[in-house]
Amino acid sequence: MEIEELRRLKGVRKVVMLTAYDCQMAKILDAAGVDILLVGDSLGMVVLGYGNTREVTMADMVRHTEAVARGTESAVVVSDMPINSYNAVGDALENARRLIDAGADAVKLEGNKPEVVRALVSSGIPVMGHVGLLPQTAERFRVRGKRRSEAERIYADALELDGLGVFSIVLECVPMGLAKRITGAVGSLTIGIGAGVHCDGQVLVVNDMLGMEEGFKPKHVKRYAHLSETIKGAVLKFMEDVRSGRFPDDRHSFH
Ligand code: KIV
Repeated sequence: MEIEELRRLKGVRKVVMLTAYDCQMAKILDAAGVDILLVGDSLGMVVLGYGNTREVTMADMVRHTEAVARGTESAVVVSDMPINSYNAVGDALENARRLIDAGADAVKLEGNKPEVVRALVSSGIPVMGHVGLLPQTAERFRVRGKRRSEAERIYADALELDGLGVFSIVLECVPMGLAKRITGAVGSLTIGIGAGVHCDGQVLVVNDMLGMEEGFKPKHVKRYAHLSETIKGAVLKFMEDVRSGRFPDDRHSFH
């Protein structure tokens, strides 16, 4: 799908975005018809085993964007710009181009950096904004915008990003009333995570919705599968078969 086609979905139907970090998962999600695959810097926690997203580098993002792009035919691929890759306009342009060259259709960056967003958009790089909880800089993971002053700041940031020409804005962990107000006020697509039902679309970290990590379940995550249990069950059967000599049997051996 083209980004312009995606934009036209506002008010027509909900947009579905999921994170993807590798080629196999991208193929599955793309074939299922997911609209946007986000190579999120949640990569740091989900795939690379760090405690936060701050360890993720441009090299990590380029490598995983290439992998996701190889598995994608129709979905729009959006890549997160990692922390410190867009502090200055020149760096932002160079790093965003690296992600586009790696196969991304657009880049996402956290917070409101008007001069950076303006430069990216005017050089033809589609940008997804991200307001509310900003994991790259957050000290604590909590809902943002419950206090009126904080809500007004988030609202103003979303409107400014919209005016700068982003095609979409992620609203992370904000009250649903605020998400509804923003969604009604902007022309870009709002994609919510922990932001209620009124957004133009929804995103979840794919490993969370598939139940890959038992101990981790924030309020906004709904589990659609319990893959850690499924995988463990399969591995236990394999172990049993190997240890008892049932595998490999004749059917799985060469003569
Ligand atoms: O990195 C990520 O996965 C994200 C989503 C949570 C929106 O930014």
